[in-house]
Amino acid sequence: MEKLRIEGGHPLRGEVAVAGAKNAALPIMCAALLSGEPLALANVPQLHDVATALKLLDRLGVKSRRAGDRVELDAGAVASVEAPYELVRTMRASILVLGPLLARFGEARVSLPGGCAIGQRPVDQHIKGLQAMGAQISIEHGYVVAKAARLKGARIVTDMVTVTGTENLMMAATLADGETVIENAAREPEVLDLAAALVAMGARIDGAGTDRIVVHGVERLHGGEHRVMADRIEAGTFLCAVAATGGEVTLTQALPATMDATLDKLREAGAGVEVGGDSIRLSMKGRPRAVDLRTAPYPGFATDMQAQFMALDCIAEGAGVVTETIFENRFMHVLELQRLGADIAIEGNTAVVRGVPGLSGAAVMATDLRASAGLVIAGLVAEGETTIDRIYHLDRGYEQMEARLAALGARIERIRGSA
Ligand code: EPU
Repeated sequence: MEKLRIEGGHPLRGEVAVAGAKNAALPIMCAALLSGEPLALANVPQLHDVATALKLLDRLGVKSRRAGDRVELDAGAVASVEAPYELVRTMRASILVLGPLLARFGEARVSLPGGCAIGQRPVDQHIKGLQAMGAQISIEHGYVVAKAARLKGARIVTDMVTVTGTENLMMAATLADGETVIENAAREPEVLDLAAALVAMGARIDGAGTDRIVVHGVERLHGGEHRVMADRIEAGTFLCAVAATGGEVTLTQALPATMDATLDKLREAGAGVEVGGDSIRLSMKGRPRAVDLRTAPYPGFATDMQAQFMALDCIAEGAGVVTETIFENRFMHVLELQRLGADIAIEGNTAVVRGVPGLSGAAVMATDLRASAGLVIAGLVAEGETTIDRIYHLDRGYEQMEARLAALGARIERIRGSA
């Protein structure tokens, strides 16, 4: 198993280009199932989760061609409507094939994802919405089995804001008979990016990016082209790293307009932040100030940035109160940060982080994707050597993280588990 070895204490300087967004690329790749004609995508990040999505689509009979950041998907000869457990359990986003398969082929069998490190993460809202559109759904042998001759437009109010739930229902509705209204829809920029890709394929969608999305179903979608938006979470992770280590870094190919909550918190922590159309320059001198955070659906503070900011609070001046409202078990990085000398107390869904003047390097273990990112940031500031085990979690969502950080001056390398 591979690990990262980091020697902390080196400021970051330079320029780094932000990759395409994982959480936009995954649903958009699944959207290729809605049409018999090819979907050409650009700015697709080279991530483990993208490889898993390609494997899943291949299983269904979708032909793919990949060259660099470009991926072409052709679902003209789909041979199966079943997403098997062994792929779904490694990537929960696989549930995103449910809506498209059902809408285009009238049936789908998608494994239930099962447990997940950061919380229960049920898919009941995806199912409820599809049932409202007339689907017959049962759970058989661990699979969601869905059938519908043709989905019908419906008014759906989700019980909570769900990102992939909104995406699944929006995709399904594009081919439904009549108008579908999704109330309490997720407003995440990735939902808007998916809507843009669907519109490029001929879908009729209004209100994406608001909490009320209206989809006018059409008979069929055609092929299309789309460039995947920049990853706001990857960008935020780099910025947190610079805020923690000190230095000055410019992000290019970024989408600062999608990052208000993150950029506000970085300014509150004492960073100088300058924003251009697609660039962000962050400079940090001295020790950051601790910030309070409360995760919330977009445009609130993203749960996917919580671990990285907690790492920043660990070495900040003062104390920060971090409240996680989206997932019930997303504090697993706390025990690992404590191994590095952090002072964190957890009470329910709230963590009180009292900043310490410095962390000290240690062996730690990554538990999920964003927790790994938090540990990398902590390792970059900790005195001495930090090794992070199980970095396959990091590779799911960050493209060559260690090489890009090293180019900014970090002392970081990938090593084999036995080293
Ligand atoms: N929920 C339900 N029932 C449902 C759907 C969701 O109870 O049917 C609950 C979840 O358990 C959670 C809350 O609603 O408590 C919100 O979950 P949501 O459905 O929004 O999460 P998701 O769609 O499964 C996406 C991202 C996550 C990100 C969350 C929240 C993708 C592929 N994944 O997950 O990204 O944390 O939204 O913003 O878009 C990551 O990239 O590291 C990651 C985990």
